[in-house]
Amino acid sequence: METLFIGKNLLFLTEVESTNSYAMEMLRNVNIIEGTVIHTDNQTKGRGQRGAVWNSEMASNITASVVLRPQFLNAQKSFYLSKISALAAHDVLTEILTQSQYDIKIKWPNDILVAKKKIAGILIENTYQNNGIANSIIGIGLNVNQTGFGEMSSTATSLKILMNKSFDRLAVLENLCGKLEKWYFKLKENKLAEIDASYFERLYGLNQQHVFWDQTKKEFLAEIKDVRLDGKLGLLISESQELKYFDVKELSWVL
Ligand code: BTN
Repeated sequence: METLFIGKNLLFLTEVESTNSYAMEMLRNVNIIEGTVIHTDNQTKGRGQRGAVWNSEMASNITASVVLRPQFLNAQKSFYLSKISALAAHDVLTEILTQSQYDIKIKWPNDILVAKKKIAGILIENTYQNNGIANSIIGIGLNVNQTGFGEMSSTATSLKILMNKSFDRLAVLENLCGKLEKWYFKLKENKLAEIDASYFERLYGLNQQHVFWDQTKKEFLAEIKDVRLDGKLGLLISESQELKYFDVKELSWVL
């Protein structure tokens, strides 16, 4: 691993319920070093955002969690962890898909889309202490060699589907660790404007109208305008022309 600390301690598990849950358990019980990465071939209870399940074909993809200790980061700025993780995954995909014409975007808050299909999802779980972030578990699922997505085939994709060849998962994971480290150092150096600008530049659907569901599953049309410091998405509601902010729990995309 050609990084300074992320992935230097790499734990590979043949099977686990969820790498995020495993990392959380380790944090409770042992003195786990920052940058530890837990990777597995098979998650039996892989978790997605907002209580969803994350299914991933055995030994085909990246299903990994990175343990960070961003104690320097104020709790109010925790969305920066979402931003840098998405930027890191975006960087990796941009590098791998460089010769292709694919459009690679970050779908708020932190899904990665290639040609409008989801290739990666990120689940971040933090523990807080005083006003700072004690631990952050960055869980990343990135579709590498899986080619069958069943009923999700119209919304999911993988590197193999896009490039017609298999990839070395460990090499992709190493690349991801390197990119995450690069962005994590920027965060540590407080280069927030650079992070914001890059996130915004790569954001899917900016200044375009999309259909969303609110908490009551009511559909509405709105234009994506902003992502606030607290991570809320700013939408210009088409019907009322009001600008409203939503957090992840208050909104879902209707694809
Ligand atoms: C999402 O898009 O809903 C987030 C998916 C996150 C999946 C990863 S796979 C590794 C880690 N362990 C989990 O249980 N989930 C994350």
